[in-house]
Amino acid sequence: MAARKSIHGEWSSRWAFVLAATGSAVGLGNIWKFPYITGENGGGAFVLVYLACVAVIGVPIMMSEIMLGRRGRQSPMNTMRVLAVESGHSPAWQYLGWMGVLAGFLILSYYSVIAGWALAYVFRTGLGWFQGQTADGVGHIFTEFINDSESLLFWHTVFMVMTVVVVMRGVRSGLERAVKFLMPALFVLLLMLVGYAMNTGAFTAGLDFLFSPDFSRITPASVLTAMGHAFFTLSLGMGAIMVYGSYLPRHTSIARTTFMIAGADTLVALLASMAIFPILFANGLEPDEGPGLIFITLPLAFGHMPGGLLFGTLFFILLTFAAWTSAISLIEPAVTWLVENRGMRRMGASLAAGTVTWLLGVATVFSFNEDSVLAFDFTFAGETKTNGVFDILDILTANFMLPLGGFFIAVFAAWFMNREASRDELELREPAYDIWRFLVRYVTPTAVAIVFLNVIGVVQF
Ligand code: TRP
Repeated sequence: MAARKSIHGEWSSRWAFVLAATGSAVGLGNIWKFPYITGENGGGAFVLVYLACVAVIGVPIMMSEIMLGRRGRQSPMNTMRVLAVESGHSPAWQYLGWMGVLAGFLILSYYSVIAGWALAYVFRTGLGWFQGQTADGVGHIFTEFINDSESLLFWHTVFMVMTVVVVMRGVRSGLERAVKFLMPALFVLLLMLVGYAMNTGAFTAGLDFLFSPDFSRITPASVLTAMGHAFFTLSLGMGAIMVYGSYLPRHTSIARTTFMIAGADTLVALLASMAIFPILFANGLEPDEGPGLIFITLPLAFGHMPGGLLFGTLFFILLTFAAWTSAISLIEPAVTWLVENRGMRRMGASLAAGTVTWLLGVATVFSFNEDSVLAFDFTFAGETKTNGVFDILDILTANFMLPLGGFFIAVFAAWFMNREASRDELELREPAYDIWRFLVRYVTPTAVAIVFLNVIGVVQF
């Protein structure tokens, strides 16, 4: 079969793909979400389950997504349709792409609001709001901020505009250049923060919390959260990595690039937590603070360390960039589809997708406002959630839509695509190919199914 070409362009090199996919993977998920859900779910044991999910579920699915993308070379919907028909199956597989696009809209709608927090904190840190503040003071500033819906809406809007502007310009010119500098810079800054955490006097307490597992803290819901987060943090299950894979030049090793991306992503999450928990314990704060965790602990540290004004500002700038390179991959699948099937230009397609997401995001803005009806409390699988619509969107997408999408991606790659096609595309030598195939055929789908079934047992509606 003659190899297809993408009409949207191709990465200039394998390295560019690794950077862009790492840019997609590393984001708020690593630095904002991972620490706060680890805090809520009791630390060590949760971290272990998460690492196991990355290895057993995340890595094989990432390889599958990249492989399907490169074989199909189109938006996830068209890729799935073409590949299904090509191997003699129903075109209905395209609906997998549709679910992905929907998940992407829903995720980006709240992602953009949180990225807006990071943007706002660039200025707050830079203007010295946190210099010499107490833990109470920093907490108070945060609570006031999230209750100020006009501010949240403003920063959400700024962030959506930033995202749409880059997506309009095309993945290559906008993205490749940005990620090359920002990723290493973020990494260095995180290392510095870990260095600071070492001197807080609570470094061992922090490491203990993160790495000594207490399995009594594990519930079906926390396993679901850990698995969902493995998908979220690696950008899997909705076609983002599939689309990026569709721009991947032929004959680049999919396995090797996957290891690099997953490795870098995991490292960033662990480093961020190793900085945050010692700071938290040193200041007598509680780990189950929720979505505000890093917006309380880190400004506290920046307010007291030498050079904190500079490093703090730089940190939130880099966090914003990390979120930016992730946000782009969340609407890219929708944009490619609008271009392919609706004959739109990239510009119109990006604007349309951005507007829909922005509107949806307004619901998240109000989820943090105590006076709003959208900020209700509810219980999910025995856990209390306090941020209404935001929590619902987060649970629905990360814990259900992404794993479900990933499940079907694995099933398609392993059971529906013919063996020759996947072998040809993955270009793996003997034991490696068989290991991958064994994982996606049996282990990955079973693991996802077991986690789902466990949760169904405890959910009450
Ligand atoms: N992985 C990103 C993060 O950790 C978020 C993200 C970007 C994402 N693209 C995605 C999540 C696609 C799920 C699917 O912040």
